[in-house]
Amino acid sequence: MEIITEKIRDESWDFKKDNTKKYTQCFHIYPAMMIPQVAGRILDEYGKDAKLLFDPFCGTGTTLVEANLRGIDAIGTDINPLARLIAKVKTKLIPIEIIDNYLNEFKNFVFLIKFRNLKTGPKIPNFKNMDYWFKKETIYFLAIIKEFIENIDNIDVKDFFKIAFSETIREVSLTKNGEFKLCRISKEKIDKFNPDVLEVMIQKLERNRKGMLEYLQIKKNNSKSSIYDFNSVHLIPRKIAPENSVDIVVTSPPYGDSRTTVAYGQFSRFSNQWLGLDDNNEVDKNSMGGVRRKDYVKFDSKIINEVVEKIRNLDKERVYDVISFYFDYGKSIKNISKVVKKGAIVAFVVGNRRVKGITIPNDEITKEFFERNNFIHLKTIIRDIPNKRMPKRNSPTNIQGVTDSTMNYEYIVILKKI
Ligand SMILES: C[S@@+](CC[C@H](N)C(=O)[O-])C[C@H]1O[C@@H](n2cnc3c(N)ncnc32)[C@H](O)[C@@H]1O
Repeated sequence: MEIITEKIRDESWDFKKDNTKKYTQCFHIYPAMMIPQVAGRILDEYGKDAKLLFDPFCGTGTTLVEANLRGIDAIGTDINPLARLIAKVKTKLIPIEIIDNYLNEFKNFVFLIKFRNLKTGPKIPNFKNMDYWFKKETIYFLAIIKEFIENIDNIDVKDFFKIAFSETIREVSLTKNGEFKLCRISKEKIDKFNPDVLEVMIQKLERNRKGMLEYLQIKKNNSKSSIYDFNSVHLIPRKIAPENSVDIVVTSPPYGDSRTTVAYGQFSRFSNQWLGLDDNNEVDKNSMGGVRRKDYVKFDSKIINEVVEKIRNLDKERVYDVISFYFDYGKSIKNISKVVKKGAIVAFVVGNRRVKGITIPNDEITKEFFERNNFIHLKTIIRDIPNKRMPKRNSPTNIQGVTDSTMNYEYIVILKKI
């Protein structure tokens, strides 16, 4: 069997038995999250002297938390306002006594609601298709919580409550909990589904309080995270990350356009609506490949051109999704490359996927794009993703130790700027 030395399947990166929800990493689910152990180990092995980390697709801030725990300052960017909010709360130290004051206040408030009649009802918001996704009683209790949160005067605590509220919204909605895309539960299930909204909210708050306490106990340095809204495809503002300023990049980018892979905007829609975060519902449109090109671009990459040609022969429309995504992906990598210091490491954690039965080797494409921007490839580590809720990714070929074609794999592509 052919062994490709710089591309290795390494089970020690699977972290199958590890708890991935420690400290603030337990705060909120999100599609295609990086696991803290992967971010942490990359930093331990490649970021010993790093002072500044950049995650251009920071999502909920998994890597930012791990960087801060190691005394590394972090910059994170994402186009999804919900993700940015979660990342902000996960990386902020909020004294536990302050959280407890508001938590007790909330519990008293819930007690009053449950056992006394409210004189006036809350202001009920009105979103498109709201009654389709939420039962009437659920909407009433969500509106009550929303009002409580609006009256919190401490901004950090307000955000802390908002993300517990966000997960509550999803859990009490009529969408299937096991799926990231919005899909309504069956009619029979709807009739029987009567969640205790206030109790769900209390449970989320208690869980996150525990996570914050753990974080406060283990974070023993002054490092900070700064989280911004910008799209790495267009430009990385110099003010935020000047050229040659970043010591290490650890990130997991989207691995395809949001229409056909992970729809981050769709996942976040209810939360964004209730929290007033993305009124125009623009996340998926702004995602890489979100604006569909209608021209047949030739890439400066043999791998992509071959893949594109094969898909075009099978589906003349679908191929534009692939072209649009890689067009943006290439631009984004060019921008990211500029802010990295010479000698610094970039770790891109990517998944490969299939379109029309054709495997798209994202790891190879990532390597090639970076090599065109003055990087050398050090290693690609292949890990199994135990979480089967992840969209299926394809198995690699010709790699020692990789046998099961139905398993999900993730590729950690490590590069160095020269
Ligand atoms: C795989 S997720 C990152 C998950 C993250 N590592 C975590 O653990 O939560 C990819 C993220 O990229 C964001 N994204 C997509 N296109 C983007 C773009 N053009 N610029 C910045 N962020 C983008 C999505 O909103 C999503 O949050």
